[in-house]
Amino acid sequence: MIYELSNPVTKTLITHLRDQKSDAIRFRHTVAELTKQLVYEALKAFPLKQKEIETWQGACSFGTLDEENIIVVTVLRAGLPMLESALDLLPNCTAGFLAMKRDETTHKSVLYYDRLPDCSAKTVLLVDPMLATGGSMIDALELIKGRNPSKILTLNIIGSPEGVQRVQKAHPDVDIFIAQIDERLNDEKFILPGLGDAGDRSYNTL
Ligand code: PRP
Repeated sequence: MIYELSNPVTKTLITHLRDQKSDAIRFRHTVAELTKQLVYEALKAFPLKQKEIETWQGACSFGTLDEENIIVVTVLRAGLPMLESALDLLPNCTAGFLAMKRDETTHKSVLYYDRLPDCSAKTVLLVDPMLATGGSMIDALELIKGRNPSKILTLNIIGSPEGVQRVQKAHPDVDIFIAQIDERLNDEKFILPGLGDAGDRSYNTL
């Protein structure tokens, strides 16, 4: 399933990201806000478990997400602000880290760090702002599937139609939640109109 956000607030935030005048702090902040929108959408149908808490009127049970069974996995670097934002919303989730670099000549992703927690029977939210060729997502999903989670959802800010389709074809059991599907990839495999390189924009390495 591919779900693209359509709210005008979402589209306004995407425009801020595209704007080269947005500096690194605004860029990361906007990515964080969009991540929260994606988390709300992705977990919309998730069941609640009852949790007993102490209220001003004594002990009572209320619905709450089973955060302990959710793992947020990020792909460094650009995914870092997304991870922080998701954990702000769901502080009891576990975090996992993968580092991948897209080789700019071959356009293939290269894994250089793997710090995934035990994913058995857990729900994994894989967060990465960019889905260009889809290669990084496909590789990350393959890796995560090897750790036996019960379900995987991806949260992406911006993607190309061909990249999104490629990921969906390679992993049809994974639900993709994305804020914006753009027009296409250019010859250098950058998303058009896109927003540039999210890692560089976030961390001033232009
Ligand atoms: C970007 C992005 C994805 C990948 C997407 O990372 O964050 O991980 O490229 O491209 P793909 O869909 O064609 O695989 P990048 O390699 O620029 O690394 P960075 O996060 O360190 O900037």
